[in-house]
Amino acid sequence: MLELEGVCKTYSEGDIEVQALHDVNLSLDASSFCMIVGPSGSGKSTLLNLIGTLDRPTRGRVLIEGQDVNLLPDRELTRFRAGRIGFIFQSFNLMPVLTAFENVEYALLQTGMPKAQRRARTEELIEAVGLGAHRAHRPNQLSGGQRQRVAIARALVKRPALVLADEPTANLDSSNGLAIVELMRDMQRCFDTSFVFSTHDPMLLGHADQVLYANDGRVTGEALKAHPGESAAC
Ligand SMILES: Nc1ncnc2c1ncn2[C@@H]1O[C@H](COP(=O)(O)OP(=O)(O)O)[C@@H](O)[C@H]1O
Ligand SMILES: [Mg+2]
Repeated sequence: MLELEGVCKTYSEGDIEVQALHDVNLSLDASSFCMIVGPSGSGKSTLLNLIGTLDRPTRGRVLIEGQDVNLLPDRELTRFRAGRIGFIFQSFNLMPVLTAFENVEYALLQTGMPKAQRRARTEELIEAVGLGAHRAHRPNQLSGGQRQRVAIARALVKRPALVLADEPTANLDSSNGLAIVELMRDMQRCFDTSFVFSTHDPMLLGHADQVLYANDGRVTGEALKAHPGESAAC
Protein backbone atom coordinates (compact mmCIF):
# COMPACT_ATOMS: atom_id res chain seq x y z
CA MET A 1 0.00 0.00 0.00
CA LEU A 2 2.67 2.48 1.11
CA GLU A 3 6.44 2.16 1.00
CA LEU A 4 9.23 4.56 1.84
CA GLU A 5 12.74 3.66 0.73
CA GLY A 6 15.74 5.57 2.04
CA VAL A 7 13.74 8.76 2.47
CA CYS A 8 15.67 11.83 3.64
CA LYS A 9 14.38 15.37 3.98
CA THR A 10 16.56 18.40 4.52
CA TYR A 11 15.14 21.89 4.86
CA SER A 12 17.42 24.76 3.87
CA GLU A 13 16.98 28.25 5.20
CA GLY A 14 19.80 30.41 3.95
CA ASP A 15 23.00 28.85 5.21
CA ILE A 16 21.24 26.71 7.77
CA GLU A 17 20.24 23.16 6.93
CA VAL A 18 17.91 21.10 9.09
CA GLN A 19 17.86 17.39 8.41
CA ALA A 20 14.28 16.61 9.41
CA LEU A 21 14.28 12.94 8.30
CA HIS A 22 17.20 10.52 8.08
CA ASP A 23 16.95 7.46 5.86
CA VAL A 24 13.38 6.36 6.60
CA ASN A 25 12.34 2.90 5.41
CA LEU A 26 8.84 1.69 6.08
CA SER A 27 6.10 -0.42 4.65
CA LEU A 28 2.42 -0.13 5.47
CA ASP A 29 -0.15 -2.80 4.68
CA ALA A 30 -3.43 -1.97 2.95
CA SER A 31 -6.41 -1.50 5.29
CA SER A 32 -4.37 -0.78 8.37
CA PHE A 33 -4.35 1.83 11.08
CA CYS A 34 -0.84 3.12 11.65
CA MET A 35 0.21 5.56 14.36
CA ILE A 36 3.34 7.66 14.34
CA VAL A 37 4.28 8.77 17.82
CA GLY A 38 7.03 11.18 18.73
CA PRO A 39 7.73 14.47 20.49
CA SER A 40 7.42 17.88 18.88
CA GLY A 41 10.13 18.42 16.26
CA SER A 42 10.75 14.70 15.73
CA GLY A 43 9.69 14.78 12.06
CA LYS A 44 6.06 13.59 12.15
CA SER A 45 4.62 16.38 10.03
CA THR A 46 7.52 16.18 7.60
CA LEU A 47 6.88 12.45 7.20
CA LEU A 48 3.12 12.94 6.69
CA ASN A 49 3.74 15.73 4.17
CA LEU A 50 5.97 13.42 2.15
CA ILE A 51 3.50 10.52 2.34
CA GLY A 52 0.72 12.93 1.37
CA THR A 53 2.77 14.09 -1.64
CA LEU A 54 2.53 17.69 -0.41
CA ASP A 55 6.32 17.82 -0.42
CA ARG A 56 9.06 15.85 -2.16
CA PRO A 57 11.92 14.01 -0.42
CA THR A 58 15.49 15.28 -0.73
CA ARG A 59 16.49 11.67 -1.34
CA GLY A 60 14.70 8.32 -1.52
CA ARG A 61 11.38 7.07 -2.87
CA VAL A 62 7.76 7.22 -1.75
CA LEU A 63 5.54 4.55 -3.33
CA ILE A 64 1.77 4.62 -2.91
CA GLU A 65 -0.15 1.66 -4.33
CA GLY A 66 3.05 0.82 -6.20
CA GLN A 67 3.29 4.26 -7.81
CA ASP A 68 6.55 6.14 -7.26
CA VAL A 69 4.96 9.52 -6.63
CA ASN A 70 8.16 11.39 -7.41
CA LEU A 71 7.91 10.28 -11.03
CA LEU A 72 4.58 12.07 -11.49
CA PRO A 73 4.63 15.59 -12.90
CA ASP A 74 2.92 18.23 -10.71
CA ARG A 75 -0.45 18.15 -12.51
CA GLU A 76 -0.74 14.39 -12.31
CA LEU A 77 0.46 14.41 -8.74
CA THR A 78 -2.31 16.88 -7.84
CA ARG A 79 -4.89 14.64 -9.49
CA PHE A 80 -3.47 11.56 -7.77
CA ARG A 81 -3.51 13.28 -4.37
CA ALA A 82 -7.06 14.60 -4.83
CA GLY A 83 -8.38 11.17 -5.76
CA ARG A 84 -6.46 8.84 -3.49
CA ILE A 85 -5.54 10.71 -0.30
CA GLY A 86 -7.70 12.32 2.40
CA PHE A 87 -6.31 14.76 4.99
CA ILE A 88 -7.32 15.52 8.56
CA PHE A 89 -5.60 18.40 10.39
CA GLN A 90 -4.98 19.37 13.97
CA SER A 91 -6.87 22.64 13.55
CA PHE A 92 -9.76 21.07 11.55
CA ASN A 93 -9.42 23.51 8.59
CA LEU A 94 -13.16 23.75 7.96
CA MET A 95 -14.69 26.55 5.97
CA PRO A 96 -16.41 28.86 8.47
CA VAL A 97 -19.23 30.03 6.18
CA LEU A 98 -20.30 26.52 5.20
CA THR A 99 -22.46 24.14 7.24
CA ALA A 100 -21.18 20.74 8.36
CA PHE A 101 -22.98 19.14 5.40
CA GLU A 102 -21.62 21.69 2.92
CA ASN A 103 -18.06 21.32 4.23
CA VAL A 104 -18.21 17.61 3.41
CA GLU A 105 -20.04 18.06 0.10
CA TYR A 106 -17.51 20.68 -0.98
CA ALA A 107 -14.83 17.99 -1.27
CA LEU A 108 -16.88 16.39 -4.07
CA LEU A 109 -17.57 19.56 -6.08
CA GLN A 110 -14.51 19.20 -8.30
CA THR A 111 -15.18 15.53 -9.09
CA GLY A 112 -18.00 16.02 -11.59
CA MET A 113 -20.22 13.66 -9.61
CA PRO A 114 -23.94 14.23 -10.31
CA LYS A 115 -25.68 16.31 -7.63
CA ALA A 116 -28.01 13.58 -6.35
CA GLN A 117 -25.14 11.14 -5.90
CA ARG A 118 -23.00 13.85 -4.29
CA ARG A 119 -25.76 14.62 -1.79
CA ALA A 120 -26.34 10.93 -1.03
CA ARG A 121 -22.64 10.29 -0.49
CA THR A 122 -22.37 13.34 1.79
CA GLU A 123 -25.43 12.22 3.73
CA GLU A 124 -23.90 8.77 4.23
CA LEU A 125 -20.69 10.24 5.69
CA ILE A 126 -22.46 12.81 7.89
CA GLU A 127 -24.51 9.98 9.38
CA ALA A 128 -21.49 7.68 9.68
CA VAL A 129 -19.65 10.18 11.88
CA GLY A 130 -22.75 10.78 14.02
CA LEU A 131 -23.54 14.33 12.92
CA GLY A 132 -26.98 13.81 11.43
CA ALA A 133 -28.56 16.24 13.89
CA HIS A 134 -25.85 18.86 13.32
CA ARG A 135 -25.69 18.88 9.54
CA ALA A 136 -26.92 22.48 9.26
CA HIS A 137 -24.54 23.86 11.89
CA ARG A 138 -21.58 26.00 10.96
CA PRO A 139 -18.16 25.19 12.50
CA ASN A 140 -18.50 27.93 15.16
CA GLN A 141 -21.72 26.23 16.32
CA LEU A 142 -19.92 22.91 16.83
CA SER A 143 -17.58 21.64 19.57
CA GLY A 144 -13.97 20.74 18.76
CA GLY A 145 -14.83 17.04 18.69
CA GLN A 146 -17.78 17.68 16.35
CA ARG A 147 -15.60 19.79 14.04
CA GLN A 148 -13.09 16.98 13.83
CA ARG A 149 -15.96 14.60 12.95
CA VAL A 150 -16.84 16.89 10.03
CA ALA A 151 -13.18 16.79 8.96
CA ILE A 152 -13.19 12.97 9.13
CA ALA A 153 -16.33 12.82 6.96
CA ARG A 154 -14.75 15.28 4.50
CA ALA A 155 -11.54 13.21 4.31
CA LEU A 156 -13.49 10.03 3.55
CA VAL A 157 -16.20 11.27 1.22
CA LYS A 158 -14.10 10.68 -1.90
CA ARG A 159 -13.33 7.12 -0.74
CA PRO A 160 -9.56 7.61 -0.67
CA ALA A 161 -7.14 4.70 -0.40
CA LEU A 162 -5.22 6.50 2.32
CA VAL A 163 -6.18 9.00 5.02
CA LEU A 164 -3.48 11.05 6.75
CA ALA A 165 -4.21 12.70 10.08
CA ASP A 166 -1.53 14.98 11.55
CA GLU A 167 -2.09 15.21 15.31
CA PRO A 168 -5.88 15.31 14.92
CA THR A 169 -6.43 15.05 18.68
CA ALA A 170 -3.93 17.72 19.75
CA ASN A 171 -6.61 20.41 20.12
CA LEU A 172 -9.07 18.15 21.96
CA ASP A 173 -9.32 17.11 25.60
CA SER A 174 -8.42 13.50 26.33
CA SER A 175 -11.96 12.06 26.28
CA ASN A 176 -12.84 13.81 22.99
CA GLY A 177 -9.45 12.79 21.61
CA LEU A 178 -10.09 9.16 22.48
CA ALA A 179 -13.57 9.32 20.90
CA ILE A 180 -12.01 10.70 17.70
CA VAL A 181 -9.41 7.91 17.58
CA GLU A 182 -12.15 5.31 18.08
CA LEU A 183 -14.27 6.90 15.35
CA MET A 184 -11.32 6.94 12.94
CA ARG A 185 -10.63 3.30 13.78
CA ASP A 186 -14.29 2.42 13.02
CA MET A 187 -14.24 4.44 9.81
CA GLN A 188 -10.99 2.78 8.71
CA ARG A 189 -12.71 -0.61 9.00
CA CYS A 190 -16.06 0.51 7.52
CA PHE A 191 -14.54 2.13 4.47
CA ASP A 192 -11.66 -0.33 4.18
CA THR A 193 -9.08 2.40 3.79
CA SER A 194 -5.64 2.89 5.38
CA PHE A 195 -5.00 5.51 8.04
CA VAL A 196 -1.74 7.07 9.15
CA PHE A 197 -2.21 9.10 12.28
CA SER A 198 0.42 11.11 14.18
CA THR A 199 0.34 11.95 17.86
CA HIS A 200 2.63 12.91 20.70
CA ASP A 201 0.39 10.95 23.11
CA PRO A 202 1.63 7.37 23.71
CA MET A 203 -1.69 6.63 25.50
CA LEU A 204 -3.34 6.25 22.10
CA LEU A 205 -0.99 3.56 20.79
CA GLY A 206 -3.20 0.63 21.78
CA HIS A 207 -5.58 1.49 18.93
CA ALA A 208 -3.05 0.96 16.14
CA ASP A 209 -2.20 -2.07 13.99
CA GLN A 210 1.23 -0.68 13.35
CA VAL A 211 3.22 1.80 15.41
CA LEU A 212 6.10 3.96 14.23
CA TYR A 213 8.29 5.92 16.61
CA ALA A 214 9.78 9.20 15.42
CA ASN A 215 12.79 10.59 17.24
CA ASP A 216 15.11 13.29 15.96
CA GLY A 217 14.20 12.51 12.37
CA ARG A 218 14.70 8.76 12.71
CA VAL A 219 11.72 6.46 12.40
CA THR A 220 11.60 2.97 13.82
CA GLY A 221 8.70 0.61 13.52
CA GLU A 222 6.89 -2.15 15.26
CA ALA A 223 4.09 -4.18 13.74
CA LEU A 224 1.37 -4.91 16.22
CA LYS A 225 -1.27 -7.57 15.93
CA ALA A 226 -4.43 -6.55 14.13
CA HIS A 227 -7.68 -6.59 16.10
CA PRO A 228 -9.60 -9.31 14.25
CA GLY A 229 -12.23 -9.72 16.98
CA GLU A 230 -13.48 -6.16 16.85
CA SER A 231 -15.82 -4.98 14.18
CA ALA A 232 -17.15 -1.54 13.54
CA ALA A 233 -20.80 -0.63 13.75
CA CYS A 234 -21.33 0.41 10.15
N1 LIG B 1 9.53 24.31 6.50
C1 LIG B 1 10.55 24.08 7.35
N2 LIG B 1 11.71 24.77 7.24
C2 LIG B 1 12.75 24.53 8.07
N3 LIG B 1 12.74 23.60 9.05
C3 LIG B 1 11.60 22.89 9.21
C4 LIG B 1 10.45 23.08 8.37
N4 LIG B 1 9.47 22.23 8.77
C5 LIG B 1 9.98 21.52 9.80
N5 LIG B 1 11.25 21.92 10.08
C6 LIG B 1 12.15 21.34 11.10
O1 LIG B 1 12.20 19.94 10.88
C7 LIG B 1 12.17 19.23 12.11
C8 LIG B 1 10.94 18.29 12.12
O2 LIG B 1 9.77 19.09 12.17
P1 LIG B 1 8.30 18.49 12.04
O3 LIG B 1 8.26 17.51 10.94
O4 LIG B 1 7.36 19.64 11.98
O5 LIG B 1 8.15 17.73 13.45
P2 LIG B 1 6.84 17.33 14.29
O6 LIG B 1 5.67 17.35 13.38
O7 LIG B 1 7.16 15.97 14.85
O8 LIG B 1 6.73 18.36 15.38
C9 LIG B 1 12.16 20.27 13.21
O9 LIG B 1 13.49 20.48 13.60
C10 LIG B 1 11.60 21.49 12.52
O10 LIG B 1 12.06 22.67 13.12
MG1 LIG C 1 3.86 18.33 13.52
